[in-house]
Amino acid sequence: MTQNPALLAVDLVSVEAYVRLKDYVAQLAHEYYVLDAPTVPDSQYDSMFRQLQEVEAAHPEWVAADSPTQRVGGAPVSGLAEVRHAVPMLSIDNAMDAEEAAGFCRSMADELGVALESLELTREPKYDGLSCSLRYAHGIFMQAVTRGDGETGEDVTAQVRTIQSVPLRLPEPFTGEIRGEVLMTIAALARLNDRQRALGEKEYANTRNAAAGSLRTLDPKVTASRRLSFFAYSLVDAAAHDFDSQAQVLAYLKKLGFQVSGLFEVVTGIEGVQKSFEAVADVRKALPFEIDGVVYKIARFDQQDALGWNTRTPRWAFAYKFPAEEKTTLLEAIDIQVGRTGKLTPVGRLTPVHVGGVTVTNVTLHNEHQVNNIKGVRVGDTVVIRRAGDVIPELVNPVLELRPAATGPFTMPEHCPTCGSTVKFIAGSEEGMGEHYCTGGTSCSDQRLFRLTHFGSRLGMDIDSLGEGSVRDLLAASLIAKASDLYRLDASLVANLEGWGKSSAAKLVTGIADSVGRPLRRFIFALGIEGVGEGTAKRLAQHFGTWEAVRSATYDGLLAIPDVGPITAGSVVAAFADEHFGPEIDLLASYVKPEPEAKITGGVLSGKTVVVTGTLPFLSREAAKALVESLGGKTSDSVSKKTFAVVAGENAGSKLTKASDLGIPVYDEAWLLAQKGE
Ligand code: IVH
Repeated sequence: MTQNPALLAVDLVSVEAYVRLKDYVAQLAHEYYVLDAPTVPDSQYDSMFRQLQEVEAAHPEWVAADSPTQRVGGAPVSGLAEVRHAVPMLSIDNAMDAEEAAGFCRSMADELGVALESLELTREPKYDGLSCSLRYAHGIFMQAVTRGDGETGEDVTAQVRTIQSVPLRLPEPFTGEIRGEVLMTIAALARLNDRQRALGEKEYANTRNAAAGSLRTLDPKVTASRRLSFFAYSLVDAAAHDFDSQAQVLAYLKKLGFQVSGLFEVVTGIEGVQKSFEAVADVRKALPFEIDGVVYKIARFDQQDALGWNTRTPRWAFAYKFPAEEKTTLLEAIDIQVGRTGKLTPVGRLTPVHVGGVTVTNVTLHNEHQVNNIKGVRVGDTVVIRRAGDVIPELVNPVLELRPAATGPFTMPEHCPTCGSTVKFIAGSEEGMGEHYCTGGTSCSDQRLFRLTHFGSRLGMDIDSLGEGSVRDLLAASLIAKASDLYRLDASLVANLEGWGKSSAAKLVTGIADSVGRPLRRFIFALGIEGVGEGTAKRLAQHFGTWEAVRSATYDGLLAIPDVGPITAGSVVAAFADEHFGPEIDLLASYVKPEPEAKITGGVLSGKTVVVTGTLPFLSREAAKALVESLGGKTSDSVSKKTFAVVAGENAGSKLTKASDLGIPVYDEAWLLAQKGE
């Protein structure tokens, strides 16, 4: 333990004395924030901290990156840089009830060939925050990156440096990546919201939103003032660090000075899972932070490796979620919202109700069929509202016993509530289903508003200052009518609008100019063509490579792309051929000049789905799946009519029976390797 260094006059301090002082203050901070066991009164800590600041002010050349003073937050950053994860940060499959949890245990035990009663799993809380990956080199904190989409996250190093429970220097020269969750405690949220209220600022709905807002701010001083916490739960490539089990990893992370969960425990079998889950549910309300379930992981790494991965989730873990919270409230009205494609959506207006950590005032009711036939709900009903974690609130059902006498079924209007155009019904593929659309096209101000908002959205052209409010202002002032007008916007006219000014106008115009050259997939998505979501846009970009190739795509050419069906192919062709939208798209492309993407040409397995099962002699399951994908194919975990082939190894089990029932060919690993054509 570092001794309380003798206090010297600031100008007489030696560099050795500085280092002793700095390490001592760091140790006190660790005792306070991580161990929750301070050894000195707060007043003493404060005075030591101030002394450290004075020494550093007198000797700026000494200031060490791991000094506790460096946690107050550095200068604001201009943006959060994107960083690609060396190892993707994936998610975990959910078990929603005891039966599903048991199902996970059974299939894991089956696959591993171990008795269900002796299946060893670890229990940890499922923290309700944001996952974050921390990189250390030789024991020094180097970089922190958010999960993002799992493949690429945002650099939040300056922000994470301010979190007291993130060690800036480890007690040993560890090099590697540590993952865990950044969260805000319930007490910290209460304090923050008190302050926000006093300042007339927006309050945060829950600890998760508050943690996200505090971490993704550009000003690290804001992060520092928010008192976030970090809990570590994994070590990237733990095997390379010579660990065999999750228990060893957590013990090591604790030794390195990280906070790890006190709820960690090794349990066995279905009964162990169920009992330990109920035990967490019992103490949940007493925890200082929110959790939305319990994570179970196969305890031993050799068994984790044997189970391998699905496309987006490990097969060796599941999150056993707490049941969603439900409350009742009054359905006061059903309003109609006009979306960017003209689709009319009934939105239920509720008497505000606090459920699942947020106040819910609106709930989407999707379409007329949902309102009348699926939910069977009427204005005036008392309704059950459910919300789980970060999931969108849902109207579950009306309480029929409480229905007032004078109510009637809901009907869609015959005219668009925004522009008055006639509403047409387009039947869906199933009986009684379908959607209502406003036929006003871009002459409907709501369609225009939401198309333009979509164009600038994060997954689209990502123009930060072009939110719904700005688009409304620009439309109202007739400065724009369509997306291409944005690229000819005159900043001085924007500056004169009410609520705007020179700097906000300049920011908007710069933001728009910065969107020139965005990757092809974003441009395609931003166009907002019906049926072309993020995934389809990506596939089109990868298939065609350049905008010119996308633009000249034919219906048949589009249909040949995996996952593009006749409806989407038709809607793309129709959008391109439209007498108004076609020329607008061309004009937009001439301004944006979307950046071409590497073409992923169809490999030998292009458009085909392959199921890999059992233990292969040479390839791990993960490697076999990656090989299928690199050959253009897709993998799946279940055999169906659509499966092209099954690649089977030892102990392949029930999938073989299914394949032979369906007449699907079964091959061995050698066949898969031969597809590479090497
Ligand atoms: S381990 C392959 N452990 O849950 C993923 N994740 O749905 C392994 N999470 O984004 C992750 N608590 O941020 C793990 N004890 C815990 C966790 C945990 C919360 C989050 C994680 C991830 C999400 C997955």
